[in-house]
Amino acid sequence: GTPASRSKTLVTLTIDGFEVTVPEGTSVMRAAKETGIAIPKLCATDMVDAFGSCRLCLVEIEGRAGTPASCTTPVAPGMVVRTQTSQLKTLRRGVMELYISDHPLDCLTCGANGDCELQDMAGAVGLRDVRYPAGANHYDDGTGTLAAGDARARGRAPVGDLGNPDWLPKDESNPYFTYDPSKCIVCSRCVRACEEVQGTFALTIEGRGWDSRVSAGMAGDNFLGSECVSCGACVQACPTGTLQEKSVIEIGVPEHSVITTCAYCGVGCSFKAE
Ligand code: FES
Repeated sequence: GTPASRSKTLVTLTIDGFEVTVPEGTSVMRAAKETGIAIPKLCATDMVDAFGSCRLCLVEIEGRAGTPASCTTPVAPGMVVRTQTSQLKTLRRGVMELYISDHPLDCLTCGANGDCELQDMAGAVGLRDVRYPAGANHYDDGTGTLAAGDARARGRAPVGDLGNPDWLPKDESNPYFTYDPSKCIVCSRCVRACEEVQGTFALTIEGRGWDSRVSAGMAGDNFLGSECVSCGACVQACPTGTLQEKSVIEIGVPEHSVITTCAYCGVGCSFKAE
């Protein structure tokens, strides 16, 4: 969920009726995980610092207004947290509905099928229906009606894409991975992994609102022409099929994988070995 705290001071709190004691500075999300409670999440990962962008991990805390993000909220002594109320379930389903309304529904033919956190979380929050029109990553849905926020209405020319001329174009310039902006939820995990894990700063988020997207440099630049060193940290961090290894696209998701540590430079980067 979120990186571990190294504090030696311990804090005791209550989550869904269970008492838990964790190091000071631990996030509510991580404390919940240690009691066996998995709070839905998309932008949080053990790899990089919490960012609080996806708003899926909302919780209720007694005595506090609103529903704070559990990934960016540190534990406090005596804190009473609830993670599974009907209000929270409705909010999370609403957030997921917005994400899925702006995402291709080609799961069965997507290289990330079965290894996609967006897919897992849609199931975890019980999403069954999407009431909203297509968003910025979509073009005409075949009805001839362009939704507000439609990419073509915003001046992005549709570019031919495997079997579907209607999605934003992929960046296939890097020899090892593919970047498909139509599947991006702008959680910033790749940008943070590039900075915090690799220290390269090759990626950024450009634009705002519907137009926000991951960018490898200036407009029109691609991954191959950027500062990217092809370390793969961004691909490992991506919770969707946006950044995918080309080998996985070609031969499928491995049946077995382990996390290992690269011995090459001594920085200690971890990566998946298959
Ligand atoms: Fe907490 Fe995304 S996981 S806001």
